[in-house]
Amino acid sequence: MAITLATIPFEERYTLPPIEAVPDTPEEMREKQDRIRWLKVERKAVILAHNYQRDEVQEVADFVGDSLGLSQEAAKTDAEVIVFCGVHFMAETASILCPDKKVLLPDLRAGCSLAASITLDELRTWKAAYPEAVVVAYINTTAEIKAESDYCCTSANAKKVIAAIPEEKDILFIPDKFLAYVVAQQTKRKNIIAYPGSCHVHKSIKPEDVATILEEHPDIELLLHPECGCVSSCMAKVFDGTLPQERTYFLSTEGMVRHIRESSAKEFAVGTEVGILHRLKKGHPDKVFYPVNPQAVCAFMKTITLDKVLRSLEFLKPEVRVPEEIARKARRAIDRMLELV
Ligand code: 13P
Ligand code: SF4
Repeated sequence: MAITLATIPFEERYTLPPIEAVPDTPEEMREKQDRIRWLKVERKAVILAHNYQRDEVQEVADFVGDSLGLSQEAAKTDAEVIVFCGVHFMAETASILCPDKKVLLPDLRAGCSLAASITLDELRTWKAAYPEAVVVAYINTTAEIKAESDYCCTSANAKKVIAAIPEEKDILFIPDKFLAYVVAQQTKRKNIIAYPGSCHVHKSIKPEDVATILEEHPDIELLLHPECGCVSSCMAKVFDGTLPQERTYFLSTEGMVRHIRESSAKEFAVGTEVGILHRLKKGHPDKVFYPVNPQAVCAFMKTITLDKVLRSLEFLKPEVRVPEEIARKARRAIDRMLELV
């Protein structure tokens, strides 16, 4: 069925913040990190950081992980304050799960191009066209989109969430078309209807980048995030044998960390935002990691600096709080996901 979505191109729906250069010496950085660690105790705070955060920010976090791990940590923390070093939809999710806590996002410009790719009006138009369908919203969506959805999912559990939905039900999968494609292939579901959104960073990880890295390192293990622009071409190549099935993986960021821990391979091509390389190199100094696209940098994630984390802890702002009614509705979709994992 053809439906008309709003005509604003996805690229015009967000503003990329500039990536600030941090001139601190290693000594100055250590001082700031020490002050953050001290203030964190004073404020009874926990610092949660996504795998794409700046190296020095990951170093002060109590927990570094993927979207799923971060929501699970937020749900179980007994801290009074959560400093969320990630992007806005992640802080919103934490606020929905912990309405009695103060959730701080050190820079409110930390948005997400993928979350910006679907509006409430577009979702409602789509739902009206498929009234019987179940809506599965990727966690990279705003709270108001989650509130209009039946299930939430992350790249780590999308397959499980889809498997929990009766076979005969159509699924509206929002907003990432590349993840929708991967999940449809993995679950062999023919009735997943994908919204055409994407993340500008992962979209830039192209089939030709994969071809180049494999030419340079033919025996490498290839790890691709399912949001990448190259996933449909790479999956087709896995099916026709052009890419080795036993060395090609489609994984969430935490799935990559886990896979590398368990793999006996020594070299990996990593297809996702390059911030994850810090954790990988630190955890596995004996292994070598190559970014599939070294330009895959998320300016939204990089807005968070040590100075801003420090300011957030000092002044207990900027705070992210989701209005009660939206939070109540969005929580149903998030809880349904958390019950399945
Ligand atoms: P995960 O960390 O859940 O794999 O998500 C990647 C991402 O793009 C978050 O914005
Ligand atoms: Fe959003 Fe993409 Fe940045 Fe993740 S990497 S926060 S999906 S823009």
